[in-house]
Amino acid sequence: MTVAIIGGTGLTTLRNLEITHREVVHTPFGEPSGPITHGVFHGREVMFVARHGYGHNIPPHRVNYRANIWALRHLGVERLIAVAAVGGVSDAMTPGRIAVPDQIIDYTWGRGHTYFEDDLTQVTHVDFTHPYSEDLREAMIVSARAANLDAVEQGTYGATQGPRLETAAEVRKLQRDGCDMLGMTGMPEAALARELEISYAACAVVANWAAGLRSDVISMDEIEANLKVGMDAVRLLLAELIPRL
Ligand code: HPA
Repeated sequence: MTVAIIGGTGLTTLRNLEITHREVVHTPFGEPSGPITHGVFHGREVMFVARHGYGHNIPPHRVNYRANIWALRHLGVERLIAVAAVGGVSDAMTPGRIAVPDQIIDYTWGRGHTYFEDDLTQVTHVDFTHPYSEDLREAMIVSARAANLDAVEQGTYGATQGPRLETAAEVRKLQRDGCDMLGMTGMPEAALARELEISYAACAVVANWAAGLRSDVISMDEIEANLKVGMDAVRLLLAELIPRL
């Protein structure tokens, strides 16, 4: 099966990826975040794309999610691993830790969020009861255990619009809704992968406690430091995971 990784904040390049070539793909939905990188990672061929661009200059609400997912599908990708930074809401979601969410609540708006809107012969719906592919989630959990990573093995990902962080009151509301973690890129990415029948799971990296939960304000230095720790864990996870797929 052809595998790809979408890297988020803190993972714009994949160390240990022996790059073979980069491929520019134009899609009916516009341009992806950058050329698709092809390479070999721990003995296995993978593709990689940096969600926010290789220069980390595309904010979450401007990412062309449709183009990214379409391009990967066009290149034959069947399994997709998304890496994304989140703010921690529930007690287990301590900064620096990684989590494998099993549910999503979508609070985003104004993003190109479906392939099924123009030139349809018939209105199309997809089942999204379980937004992440359980087999891929399971592989991620087994790999995290093998790498002694103490990952949080389930949780609800609240997809917020960004690019600003939330207010303390918004976080209290999102907590009441049942969100365990908050990120800005989980949707529509997961739904688009489902529409194109790509198996998709996410590895969330906790960058900070969500607003108002543990500190008065959130500093960007704190986010950066936690992401550094978290992304080292992600690299260990991927080193276990990729050869298993
Ligand atoms: N909220 C939303 N997205 C995020 C956060 C947060 O606190 N931290 C990193 N991505």
